[in-house]
Amino acid sequence: MRAAGRLIGLVREELRRMVRPGVTTLELDAAAEKMIRDSGALPTFKGYHGYPFSICASVNEQVVHGFPSKYVLKEGDIFSVDCGATLEGFVGDTATTVPVGKVSEDRLKLIRVAEESLERAIAQCRPGKHLGDIGWAVQEHAEAHGYSIVRDYVGHGIGRKMHEDPQIPNYGKPGTGVRIKAGYVFAVEPMINMGTHYTKTLSDGWTVVTLDGKPSAHVEHTIAITEDGPEVLTQVTEKVPEAEAVNA
Ligand code: MF3
Ligand code: CO
Ligand code: CO
Repeated sequence: MRAAGRLIGLVREELRRMVRPGVTTLELDAAAEKMIRDSGALPTFKGYHGYPFSICASVNEQVVHGFPSKYVLKEGDIFSVDCGATLEGFVGDTATTVPVGKVSEDRLKLIRVAEESLERAIAQCRPGKHLGDIGWAVQEHAEAHGYSIVRDYVGHGIGRKMHEDPQIPNYGKPGTGVRIKAGYVFAVEPMINMGTHYTKTLSDGWTVVTLDGKPSAHVEHTIAITEDGPEVLTQVTEKVPEAEAVNA
């Protein structure tokens, strides 16, 4: 799990570096697939329930599962990329939302709150806590900033398969739900909307968008629960939140 997590964490960071006005999401998909395969791993998403690409590329009001396309990223977009790799039989799954060039203050804040929500959720990933503590950590923080929590999609257990039990909602009540034990590995993935939490799926059968067309942010880490607390398997960078640079 560690090797798969580290690999896909590095891929995520390279994709973040590639994001800029003028790049197409299909180019990012090709780069991700090459990095994954060159490392001796497989792109987990490709062929998963018929999904045709190696990454999910969700722009602005797209919440998750957007198709990479000839769409050219432009200044002011926010771009969510989700990627997965299977290495030595184990899966790593991670997502991030990147501002494209210079982005409005309200969109930057949406991304920041999504990232902070994930950090707060990770702090709950310890033996003796409950799944409801994770959900509550995300919900409390996002709703305090006036944002809504997507309910139609949730985090999940992860291991030899990408999606394993249990489901990990980004909402909940403290002290409720499954009790967390050392040895569990979770993919925690807040999806935070600027407007309504309701979503719909486009006619391609995959792309999930907000019902009101307002922007959405998605961030995800794969996290192992140890006796000492969370080990974020897809964390490959030093934590310097203030250093979020503009990539124009
Ligand atoms: N990685 C997504 C998740 O975080 C699922 C992607 S579905 C796929 O759970 F079909 F694109 F693989
Ligand atoms: Co994912
Ligand atoms: Co996931």
